[in-house]
Amino acid sequence: NKLVFSGVQPTGNLHLGNYLGAIRKFVALQDGNDCIYCVVDLHSITAQLVHPDLPGQIRSIAAAFIASGIDAEKHIVFNQSAVPQHAELAWVFNCVARIGWMNRMTQFKDKAGKDRENASLGLLAYPSLMAADILVYRGTHVPVGDDQKQHLELARDIAMKFNLDYADNIRKAGLGTDIKVGDEPVHAYFPMVEPLIDGPAPRVMSLRDGTKKMSKSDPSDLSRINLMDDEETISKKIRKAKTDPDGLPSDIEGLKGRPEADNLVGIYAALADKSKAQVLSEFGGQQFSVFKPALVELAVHVLSPITAEMRRLMDDTSHIDNILRKGGERARERAEKTMNEVRDIVGFLR
Ligand code: TYM
Repeated sequence: NKLVFSGVQPTGNLHLGNYLGAIRKFVALQDGNDCIYCVVDLHSITAQLVHPDLPGQIRSIAAAFIASGIDAEKHIVFNQSAVPQHAELAWVFNCVARIGWMNRMTQFKDKAGKDRENASLGLLAYPSLMAADILVYRGTHVPVGDDQKQHLELARDIAMKFNLDYADNIRKAGLGTDIKVGDEPVHAYFPMVEPLIDGPAPRVMSLRDGTKKMSKSDPSDLSRINLMDDEETISKKIRKAKTDPDGLPSDIEGLKGRPEADNLVGIYAALADKSKAQVLSEFGGQQFSVFKPALVELAVHVLSPITAEMRRLMDDTSHIDNILRKGGERARERAEKTMNEVRDIVGFLR
């Protein structure tokens, strides 16, 4: 049984990387799976404590989920702080995980910068909360962009250590199932989460520099397409996107060493639900002067209905607030079931 879980931070505007790397996959996974999608507001205060409009940011991520096609009736959409069990399980995981594991996280090193001693304790413990987000529902599949891969490996390490350290208690409580990790049989309470990173655009790059990730924090707005950009802005950004002087190659091999071309082809493929090879069989041999307008047309076709729906949802926030409230209730019920079992395993009296 698959349980899909993923989260998005309510910091800054969503961009095409968030959409293609994460949200578009959330939408596709709804069919046939049980899905829980979370606005991770607890995570948003790890790097920056005070936000000018956190409630508005939380609502806008939820609005992006709904506008992109997530069905909040069939699945669960909520904000993390509404379910205190996330923070409670994260505490247990803080005691399972080792400081050395956290210190090795590249995102921590990037975000903390040179003055590591002065980073918040929350920023260091960030991956432990992320593991709790998923495992408090015993989530099995996690759609994310490539930048979250290391965090998900850590979630597996935490789950594995919990399972091994508490093996006797898990058995005594009559919980857990036998699973195989590689060739090793393990009696596990928490599943080994599987990252879902594949697809043509697991790492959408900056439009100004094909070697840098498209990101909310890039000072140049031309580097990214925001989900709230209008048609004209999208068109301008794609027309100005950096490219090399050659035309498009006819196969994927030809994209090697051409990061900007590779990025634009990947974006086109992800937006069109095609593979990069398929896109190149269509556009191979053409110049960017032909490809870019086609990409503009496709991007506008896919994104503008989402933008319009997001705007509509943000006009009257009562609908979004209702979705979050109901989603929070349903999520709490499920998370509390896991937490009761965790309390029994650890030995907390209840
Ligand atoms: P966040 O909020 O930074 O990003 C949300 C999602 O967008 C993906 N993403 C990208 N994908 C492709 N190309 C890019 N340039 C790009 N930029 C961002 C991210 O990989 C992510 O999937 N730690 C997470 C949030 C989180 C979470 C979780 C995710 C908290 N708990 C539990 C999964 C499961 C984060 O900061 O994502």
